[in-house]
Amino acid sequence: MSQAIETVDEDGVIERVSGPVVTATDLDARMNDVVYVGNEGLMGEVIEIEGNLTTIQVYEETSGVGPGEPVENTGEPLSVDLGPGMLNAIYDGVQRPLDVLEEKMGTAFLDRGVDAPGIDFEKVWEFEPTVDEGDSVGPGDVIGEVPETASITHKVMVPPNYEGGEVTSIEAGEFTVDEPVAELDSGEEVTMHQEWPVREARPANEKETPTIPLVSGQRILDGLFPIAKGGTAAIPGPFGSGKTVTQHQLAKWADADIVVYVGCGERGNEMTEVIEDFPELEDPKTGKPLMSRTCLIANTSNMPVAARESCIYTGITIAEYFRDMGYDVALMADSTSRWAEAMREISSRLEEMPGEEGYPAYLAASLSEFYERAGLFQNINGTQGSVSVIGAVSPPGGDFSEPVTQNTLRIVKTFWALDADLAERRHFPSINWTESYSLYRQQLDPWFRENVEEDWPEVRQWAVDVLDEEGELQEIVQLVGKDALPEDQQLTLEVARYLREAWLQQNAFHDVDTYCDPKKTYRMLRAIKTFNDEAFEALEAGVPVEEIADVDAVPRLNRMGTAEEWNEFIDELESDLEEQIRSLY
Ligand SMILES: Nc1ncnc2c1ncn2[C@@H]1O[C@H](COP(=O)(O)OP(=O)(O)OP(=O)(O)O)[C@@H](O)[C@H]1O
Ligand SMILES: [Mg+2]
Repeated sequence: MSQAIETVDEDGVIERVSGPVVTATDLDARMNDVVYVGNEGLMGEVIEIEGNLTTIQVYEETSGVGPGEPVENTGEPLSVDLGPGMLNAIYDGVQRPLDVLEEKMGTAFLDRGVDAPGIDFEKVWEFEPTVDEGDSVGPGDVIGEVPETASITHKVMVPPNYEGGEVTSIEAGEFTVDEPVAELDSGEEVTMHQEWPVREARPANEKETPTIPLVSGQRILDGLFPIAKGGTAAIPGPFGSGKTVTQHQLAKWADADIVVYVGCGERGNEMTEVIEDFPELEDPKTGKPLMSRTCLIANTSNMPVAARESCIYTGITIAEYFRDMGYDVALMADSTSRWAEAMREISSRLEEMPGEEGYPAYLAASLSEFYERAGLFQNINGTQGSVSVIGAVSPPGGDFSEPVTQNTLRIVKTFWALDADLAERRHFPSINWTESYSLYRQQLDPWFRENVEEDWPEVRQWAVDVLDEEGELQEIVQLVGKDALPEDQQLTLEVARYLREAWLQQNAFHDVDTYCDPKKTYRMLRAIKTFNDEAFEALEAGVPVEEIADVDAVPRLNRMGTAEEWNEFIDELESDLEEQIRSLY
């Protein structure tokens, strides 16, 4: 060991290895510097400095690394490479492309000490200027465009930390990402490549109040608990309740320009599904491959725990970069609980004072820093862009009182509570409509009124009231049975049943039902309300409930979701309901 110290004069020396945490002596480093650890040069980040002792979290498996081996400091914080080439990519938690790693090493996920840039430095891109020589440009300004994928035009921007100035030369042509595409009179050269430290939010002028929904095509979300573009949402749920399916549905169908999907610490097969599934999916908006507007970040449960801690930051930084171009970005993280567990593991290796249930005392702060980076922003270049963040939470035993769920709840404005009972009854998506909420409802109502139907909020309120009433009636039914209820309450139960079965339930795996246009969501609800209104009139005229419920057309309500020509289907259904129920009296 002493010999090793002599041979590595400027480098630090490993003193102790404890899983992903390594301590080194004599390393000249600052907090968050990236270092290369051991003879293999494993990538790590400085997370604590105490006198001559530096603590490092290592993003790769550390078995076999031992005391005496060198630690080399890069002097740079953990950063991502930003530029064309991130869409269609699959990265690990520190933005190493998994396909490049696989090519270099023959296997994915496993090998160590391999460095690979996040974007391809050899690839040539077609650059088209959007400013002229002589124009003045400031930090963040767009100076040109690159057709990155079939669906997305990449905007080349002056880096936020540049001074800016007058453009002295700019030309269309083919460039690699680190060749200058423009020169400024400040002496600065702009390339298509930016680096940004992942733990620092990219600057923006202002956060604004979001008023446009991120339309998900999922009835219960758009209909009852909408999230805004630039909003935050959490999906907590017990094992097997539908967290991943919901996240996938959002990644596929939400009307975001760009999707960043962070698979964080979940089982390898869930991520394999994404990796195999997504490239084959078509973007419903453009008919082009979905991956051409998607960036995947994978840190599965068999990958190193420290890279799980960082994958969230890598994802949100990439999301912010596209936001800066004026895009609406949606980031899904599945699951933030695994991320919190990674923090817990690292914290315990550091022998920090544990907080609730062993999580570090800074759990709440880390969660809120992450969700804070969501929002609708006035960018520094004057464009408007948004980052919506949707985090899955996996509370052990499905108990929402645990610290990750509780701390997340204090931050996010949309809460989609998954429910084990509903999942067991195969009611999907098993989102509990009494526990869930959206604090965006009111600010999004004007959009729904204008873009879907004027009375959207009123019709929604009608549905909420019926479901509430059903909840209360169910308690009585449990005690005395349904037949003991007065007829009008029995009818309410019948209407509520259709709300649940025909409207709230939605099959993610049915070709048609998987996506529901908000207009269809509204029409379906209206149809159930038509049934309700006709039925109550019949009841008043003396028709018994059983007769009303027996009307031929009624069960057709359950086929609205899967109906392809839904406009015609619902028109016909509504007029049949009217006619058949009216004929009873
Ligand atoms: N919207 C849906 N439509 C149809 N089936 C669904 C839907 N949501 C969930 N399911 C069913 O529930 C199963 C479990 O869902 P999912 O894998 O998303 O659960 P999870 O909460 O992510 O579980 P885990 O805790 O194991 O990660 C799915 O395989 C599917 O069969
Ligand atoms: Mg899952």
